[in-house]
Formats: sequence, C-alpha cells, structure tokens
Amino acid sequence: MLQLHNVFKTYKTEAIQVPVLQRLSLLIEQGEFVAIMGPSGSGKSTLMSIIGLLDTITSGTYFLNGKDVSVSSDKELAKYRNKHIGFVFQQFHLLPRLSALANTELPLIYAREKKKIRKEKAHRALEIVGLRDRMNHYPNQLSGGQKQRVAIARAIINNPDVILADEPTGSLDSKTGEQVMSIFSEFNREGKTIILVTHEPEIAQYAQRTILLRDGIVVEDRRR
Ligand SMILES: Nc1ncnc2c1ncn2[C@@H]1O[C@H](COP(=O)(O)OP(=O)(O)OP(=O)(O)O)[C@@H](O)[C@H]1O
Ligand SMILES: [Mg+2]
Repeated sequence: MLQLHNVFKTYKTEAIQVPVLQRLSLLIEQGEFVAIMGPSGSGKSTLMSIIGLLDTITSGTYFLNGKDVSVSSDKELAKYRNKHIGFVFQQFHLLPRLSALANTELPLIYAREKKKIRKEKAHRALEIVGLRDRMNHYPNQLSGGQKQRVAIARAIINNPDVILADEPTGSLDSKTGEQVMSIFSEFNREGKTIILVTHEPEIAQYAQRTILLRDGIVVEDRRR
C-alpha cells in the first residue's frame, strides 16, 4: 500500500521556484490498477517519480508499505526501488549497445546477482513478454512494441510488487499499445499494483481507477 498525505513538491532553480504538486493526498492499495491522467504539465511524471522513489517530496508524508520513506537514506531507497518497483517509460530507455537479453538483465547486474541466475531470470522475463526468439537482437533491430516489451521484461525481472508506467503506449500504434496493455492486465491479475500515466481514454479503460490531476492536485478520482 502506498499513501501520500498533504504532499507538496516544488522544483527550486536558482532563479525561480516551480510549485508542481500542491497538498496532494492519495492512497493506493496493493493490487490496484490505476490510470493517472491530466493535461501536460499537471505533475503526472513528477508524481510517478515520487511514487517510484526517484525523487523526494518537498513536504508532507509518503508511507510505502507502512514505512515513512521521506526519512529513508538514498541507499535504502535505491535498494527498495530495485527490489519492489519496476519502471516503464514512453521512450523505452534501452541501452543501444546491449542485446535484448543484456538490457533485461540490467537490474540484476546493479544488484550484483550471479551470472547464471541473471540469465535464467532474463530468459524467463523475456518469455513472459513473448520475446524469447528476439533475445539476441539489439534495440535497433526491434520494432517499437518489441522494444517496449524488452523494457517491460527488464521492469519485471525482480518480480516487483508495483509497476509504474509513464505513457508506455505513447510511442506505439494502437494495436501494439493494446498488446502492451494486455501484458499489464495480466500482471495485475497476478496481484501486482499497476500505476499508469496516459493521455488516451482507451488506454485508461484497462484500469479500475482513474485519477485526474490538474495543476498538481487531484481533481477527480473514479473507480469502476
Ligand atoms: N526538474 C525540474 N525542474 C523544474 N521544473 C520542473 C522539473 N521537472 C518538471 N518541472 C515542471 O513541473 C511541471 C510538471 O511536470 P511533469 O513532467 O510532472 O508534467 P506531466 O504532467 O508529466 O506533463 P506531460 O503530460 O507533458 O508529460 C511542469 O511545469 C514542468 O515544467
Ligand atoms: Mg509526463
């Protein structure tokens, strides 16, 4: 379960302060499938970075599985993130010089996992996303949908409880986007929490709950 309470996030540069999230409170239970929507600049990616422990809040509290993460050290956060959270982005973020298999293995390399276990888990993750037959391909030898599936394999390799996807279908045609979404739906059926940012209502349909952000506050929170 993750719980944000009265969260403010302000980006401070030398010249100005940019308030992005303003007294945002949000509770997401384990196993939910949530879509976050809202206009460009409303704070969706900022919220995802905070939820995923890539960025910290300016004030307020953030409890993750009962633990106040606003007081955790960077090292603790990195460790937690690697084990429990998987990220998927619009632009895939694959390393061009690594094969699909090596890209998938990356989180395990950071975690200093043994080679044999890395290979086994990466094979398994690529199988789940239907890409066993492409594991030796490099990113420039893969279609957009295949690249995103490699990114998903990488995100799930540690069997995280939460998957955060920021416009994962934003660079895909609608048919390929549907394939990617059905992979997320399957993970959700297995009990994983999925939090997804999207601009597309058809993509948001896959979620059971839609949260609408505007100027850094929740203006709508609907369950189906
Ligand atoms: N590192 C930063 N420093 C200063 N301002 C930032 C920074 N990151 C984001 N912002 C500002 O915070 C606001 C929210 O940005 P964010 O990326 O969260 O929006 P978004 O809802 O994801 O938009 P989009 O739909 O275009 O992806 C924007 O006005 C942006 O300019
Ligand atoms: Mg964004």
